[in-house]
Amino acid sequence: MLKPIVEAHRGYSARYPENTLCAFRQAIAVGAPSIELDVHASADCEIVVMHDGTVDRTSNGKGAIAQMTLAELKKLDVGAWKGPEFAGERIPTLAETLALTDASNVAFNVEIKTFASAKAVEKLVALLHEHAPRGGSHVVSSFDVNALLQVRAVDPAVPLCILGNADKILHQAEEMDFPWIHSHFATVNGDVVAAAHAQGRRVMIWTMDKPALFQHYVRLGVDKVCTNCAAEMLAAQ
Ligand code: G3P
Ligand code: MG
Repeated sequence: MLKPIVEAHRGYSARYPENTLCAFRQAIAVGAPSIELDVHASADCEIVVMHDGTVDRTSNGKGAIAQMTLAELKKLDVGAWKGPEFAGERIPTLAETLALTDASNVAFNVEIKTFASAKAVEKLVALLHEHAPRGGSHVVSSFDVNALLQVRAVDPAVPLCILGNADKILHQAEEMDFPWIHSHFATVNGDVVAAAHAQGRRVMIWTMDKPALFQHYVRLGVDKVCTNCAAEMLAAQ
């Protein structure tokens, strides 16, 4: 039985500040072959890595990313909220992040949160090509079908992943021919995996932080496990 790929959700985010270069480097250091991250576009159409649409929760600033320039965003500290030892971490751009692939060959799962601008989508696709992993490719995921279709319109070869609970997205994935579905682990069972595989699709689960359940998902045939606890999950393989 094939082992699922372990994907570090927002980097090694259980121990390091989520969606920072620090968390990504630590995920690579513990051997994660794949890293999930979230992106937004700034007011000046730079693609930056952060989960929320505002900087309020994970930085020392306030405001919506879409209304701030990259220069303004770069002044913020996104490490100190997690612990004083992480003070000084800055919001990474997608370019800075994907550049980590050049030396490590790690694959990224780039989750588009909100950006509708065609320019941002074109930039994102160009970056995927500039820093592609050898012998593979990065994946683009989103809860937003339109965002995925925008990526496909720029480059039909980018592997796409629809996010949502399994009962809702399996049909959508078939209709739109998305190669990956990514669902909350509690919504994925053997029937879901069998149905997806019968359609030739692959199944990811988020955010599964219980190493003791890893073998259960191996038996179900899940293809990728997205987790905040990358090192612990790799040890459970
Ligand atoms: O990629 C899976 C997961 O990241 C989706 O939810 O809110 O953590 O981005 P969220
Ligand atoms: Mg995400």
